[in-house]
Amino acid sequence: MAKGGISADVIVDLQYGDCGKGKVAHHLARSKKYTHVLRYNGGCNAGHTIFHKGKKFVTHHIPAGVFFGIPSIIGPGCVVDPLAFKREIRSLESGGIKTKGMVFIARNTHTITAAHRAEDGVDKKIGTTRRGNGPAYRDKYGRTGVRADKVAALKPYLIDLPKEVLDKKNVRILAEGAQGFGLDIDWGDYPFVTSSHCTVGGAVLNGIPASAVREVWGIAKMYETYVGAKKFQPKGDIFNKIGDVGEEFGSTTGRRRQTNWMNMQLLEKAIRINGVTHIVFNKVDVLRAVGAWAVIDSPRAKSRGGGKVKKFASEKEMKAFIAKRLATLGVKKSNIFFSESKERI
Ligand code: IMP
Ligand code: MG
Repeated sequence: MAKGGISADVIVDLQYGDCGKGKVAHHLARSKKYTHVLRYNGGCNAGHTIFHKGKKFVTHHIPAGVFFGIPSIIGPGCVVDPLAFKREIRSLESGGIKTKGMVFIARNTHTITAAHRAEDGVDKKIGTTRRGNGPAYRDKYGRTGVRADKVAALKPYLIDLPKEVLDKKNVRILAEGAQGFGLDIDWGDYPFVTSSHCTVGGAVLNGIPASAVREVWGIAKMYETYVGAKKFQPKGDIFNKIGDVGEEFGSTTGRRRQTNWMNMQLLEKAIRINGVTHIVFNKVDVLRAVGAWAVIDSPRAKSRGGGKVKKFASEKEMKAFIAKRLATLGVKKSNIFFSESKERI
């Protein structure tokens, strides 16, 4: 055990968000013994789709521990919108999920204000989710932001994270991320990025000792999607088909997501930088339904579009190709999961 008896497993998205982190967080929270689930970055720009007991939920701020009575914390790497947060509490409650005494916000977490929402609300350049995320982080770093402990409506939820969680004995945290590597403020395709850290480094910033990190669960899809202002989807009807079959519409904004084949170079970089130990590839069933198997694999291609397409004759061939590549990065075959269900991995 690390210092203070803490260990943590971290969930990171390896592409552009919307890879199914919510599903994996829900699965891990159900199947392993965590004492806390902690959301480590982003705000209500995120939309995590979770099927719980056959019912669909979309969470924006609140981590998946709440579905199983595990204390769920919004960490200081996040920005929280008090209005959206309260709406989310109400919507979970009306769906039969108990939130009382289960949901906490670190007192040093910054907030999204009405001014942030208004400013982001007219964005056209980046194609943001217009939830005030970028302006809230800008003000945090500009040292003019408003922390949660200054907002009356959030008082009942506030905790001193080090004192009330990190310093306790036998703490086992599941750290749930938002957005993804391709949207990361440092590693994404700047300026078409979000304003927070979407990597394991981002999780550690929330007060988790680096030596406490055990498993790093990287989440990808068998193809890529992106929502935002840049052009991402290549020409070809196949990409619209993938989007239709995969129901690729934003869970927060309802916008149609652009699609492309999975980019191996982006994936490999994200695996390396995050130190991924386990990996889930979601939506195998979608490529199966459209009957096409391909990736982009060209080491010298620019990250923005283009790249050489490598086609496969079958699902088996594509899976074998991926597993072989991941072996060179130290990811064991037994730690690779190909998923084709909305509810399970
Ligand atoms: P922002 O995070 O709202 O500032 O948006 C910046 C970029 O990140 C835009 O391209 C958004 O569509 C994208 N983005 C933000 N949150 C998510 C998410 O949860 N899933 C997918 N894309 C996201
Ligand atoms: Mg989403």
